[in-house]
Amino acid sequence: MEFELDGRPVSVSSSITLLAALRDELGVRSAKDGCAPQGQCGCCTVWVDGEPRVSCVTPVARVSGRRVTTLDGLDAGVRDRWADALCASGGSQCGFCTPGIVMRLAAERHQSTVRSDIASSLTAHLCRCTGWQTILDAAVMVASGEHDDFPRDDESANQRASIEGRSAQVVSPRVALGEGGFAEDTAPEDAWVAVLAPDGTWSVASNITEARQRAGVVQGRRSTLGINWPIEPPTGEFVRTLSTTWVEPAYLEPDAVWCRPGGEPFGPTENGGAFGDKARWLRDEARRLADENQRPMRVVLSREDVVRHGAKRPVLAGGVRSDGSGTIVVRRTEGVADLVRSVAPDWEVQVVDVPGPPSTLERRAAVWAEIAVLRSSLSDEPWDHVTSPEGAEAWARVDDDAIHVKVRCGRVLDRTVLHSYCVGAAHMALGWVRSEGLAVDESGVVHDLTIRSFGVVRASDMPDVRVEIVDDDAEPINGSDAVFVAVASAVWRFDGWPARWPSERDVADR
Ligand code: FES
Ligand code: FES
Repeated sequence: MEFELDGRPVSVSSSITLLAALRDELGVRSAKDGCAPQGQCGCCTVWVDGEPRVSCVTPVARVSGRRVTTLDGLDAGVRDRWADALCASGGSQCGFCTPGIVMRLAAERHQSTVRSDIASSLTAHLCRCTGWQTILDAAVMVASGEHDDFPRDDESANQRASIEGRSAQVVSPRVALGEGGFAEDTAPEDAWVAVLAPDGTWSVASNITEARQRAGVVQGRRSTLGINWPIEPPTGEFVRTLSTTWVEPAYLEPDAVWCRPGGEPFGPTENGGAFGDKARWLRDEARRLADENQRPMRVVLSREDVVRHGAKRPVLAGGVRSDGSGTIVVRRTEGVADLVRSVAPDWEVQVVDVPGPPSTLERRAAVWAEIAVLRSSLSDEPWDHVTSPEGAEAWARVDDDAIHVKVRCGRVLDRTVLHSYCVGAAHMALGWVRSEGLAVDESGVVHDLTIRSFGVVRASDMPDVRVEIVDDDAEPINGSDAVFVAVASAVWRFDGWPARWPSERDVADR
């Protein structure tokens, strides 16, 4: 099977997808696998005869004799303009989604400066980090030929990104082009690949297509089951109660680790909506499999595996009294009772067993967020105000035009980066309150395994987010978690405090 790749003739196996041919046989790393073969995240977008195509659902046979262009084959000037604009606007954080987004937007014949048009063009894409607004800013910059040559201190930008991402981060145009060093991209060429089979064993082969075939993986579907709220709210004299359901962290890069025999594992990359908590248990598996097979191994979770096995924030239900005290009933999760006692000593905590995927307190503002929004709902002030356990302050207000945010979190270090993480936090908060949820059945099995079923807010549904950063000379601390909680409080207030999140999804809309 032959086609033209970035201007040169190539020949590949004929019974695989275009994405598998690009990544496994031709060494292309800019096209990412975020959900293959679901075709729902847009990370693998390339051009076929100049038209954007989702390569993970395109049989390579369909491009026989045709012209395939990846990000690497784009005109260097065009590629650099996009990378610079995304970096200047804060429109890329982990950089996993942006190569596909650039391929989508750069294909437009008449690049629009109309934000709603740009957002509509991104219907086939997902981004977990940025909240879209800064991606639209970058697209407007490119379309209007603007340049932002502001001087930037790279070290300060990296420091602010690492504080907000809660793991080492790099801010650079290269990252926006997908060169952030993901384990799936940096594994040695001769590494074999291991994927999880349905019985929990590893299926090992020389390439991912074969490993998945051998594993007999049945692809996940969006469930016909509805979301449920597994914990009943406490009873008592509460002014307000809140019940949450399972939500997926939904970082776009599925967890992956590679390792040489006797070596140190590399990965997973702890970024992109994970906030420092990806599947670290894969490191032991990669080391073991590399030693057992005496060759470099890469261990890769599919999107379905990430959802099935990845840790979620604990589900809970809570109620707040008029004096600000309250009760939290929460899924048994390591450290949760201590956390509640430390952030809310006047609250009662009841720990209960709920069947379901693993849960962790390492998810964004887990449990203290829910207590803070319940408390904030008692306030009559127009702005919801939250102070994080670290001491960052955030204020948020929602009206028909926008989500308004103020944040104070020590020295700003890099205004663009902090702004980007705050917009991303607002996006995540909006989805958490209104649309995000996973169907989990009564025995605890997750049913929503496709990336679109998580309810992440799409570009065209994202309101404007206006962020004011309050200058402060104190030590820099994480501000976006406080923004996440303040925005969740403000959205909840704006929506009239519905007692269940997500408020806009229930059995009826599934
Ligand atoms: S990897 Fe192809 S759309 Fe997600
Ligand atoms: S920058 Fe979009 S998913 Fe991370």
